[in-house]
Amino acid sequence: MTARKIIIDTDPGQDDAVAILLALASPEEIEVLGITAVAGNVPLALTQKNARIICELANRTDIPVFAGCDAPLKRPLVTAEHVHGKTGLDGPTLPDPSMPLQDAHAVDFIIETLRNHPAGTVTLCPLGPLTNIATALEKAPDIAPRIAEIVLMGGAYFEVGNITPAAEFNIYVDPEAADIVFRSGAPITVMPLDVTHKALVTKPRNDAFRALGTQVGEAVALMTDFFERFDKEKYGSDGAPLHDPCVTAYLIRPDLFSGRHINVEIETTSELTLGMTVADWWGVTDRAANATFMGDLDADGFFALLTERLARL
Ligand code: BDR
Ligand code: CA
Repeated sequence: MTARKIIIDTDPGQDDAVAILLALASPEEIEVLGITAVAGNVPLALTQKNARIICELANRTDIPVFAGCDAPLKRPLVTAEHVHGKTGLDGPTLPDPSMPLQDAHAVDFIIETLRNHPAGTVTLCPLGPLTNIATALEKAPDIAPRIAEIVLMGGAYFEVGNITPAAEFNIYVDPEAADIVFRSGAPITVMPLDVTHKALVTKPRNDAFRALGTQVGEAVALMTDFFERFDKEKYGSDGAPLHDPCVTAYLIRPDLFSGRHINVEIETTSELTLGMTVADWWGVTDRAANATFMGDLDADGFFALLTERLARL
């Protein structure tokens, strides 16, 4: 199997961090060409720094990290310190990074990488608001047909919303960007809350990370303990959801996921339902399918994979 070449576009975030670690631990399946940071969970100055902290935790200072857009296309930034803490990576105490931030803008890196590789060979993995990806598509429309696939965490259908009653955070923060991405014509696979709310870090799963007895295992246990800690109360579940690693797990074990190829459109005007992913799960319209929208996950298989791969770091 040849490793899939990917760009991780991210706003770390503890769950983003675990998604990145899973990718870096899986070189047979995934080659990370670069990491592009975007404003989201916390402002850009922190997300680009956090991305470098994670690369250093994985001993992968060779991965180029780029800073991208610091605000959504048309709206003020909404952040989520209430979920991720002040730094975005609250939980473990990790050293400030010493690896450099690349000089180029993340959007230019995305464009150049897609242009410099054969068409259909580079996959984009957005784990945050879609501002960088949409800006790249607007600036360089020629890249859309060159994208192998966009595998993203965002949206919801049955679970509806987490930041508002109708919207999931990543899509809500920059709905105009999401709209551009979902209309781009590139093949899209979506990991919505319907899937990620099944990836629950129960106590035994958190204990398994800690039991790895490594710096990475300990850091992941502390991060997943901190992150979404209100969710257990909010949803009455016995663990908090680990959203973004669903994206990188899908690249390694697509068989763990199931969903439907359907039409998905983004609400950009209604105040009440702004950022809603209007997913035609039941096929009640004749709007053309534009995304594979996942609905189910083998959670035990997912955590077994994650723990086994993190043990390598
Ligand atoms: C998404 O929002 C962020 O808080 C997480 O990192 C994840 O990408 C979940 O709605
Ligand atoms: Ca994220």
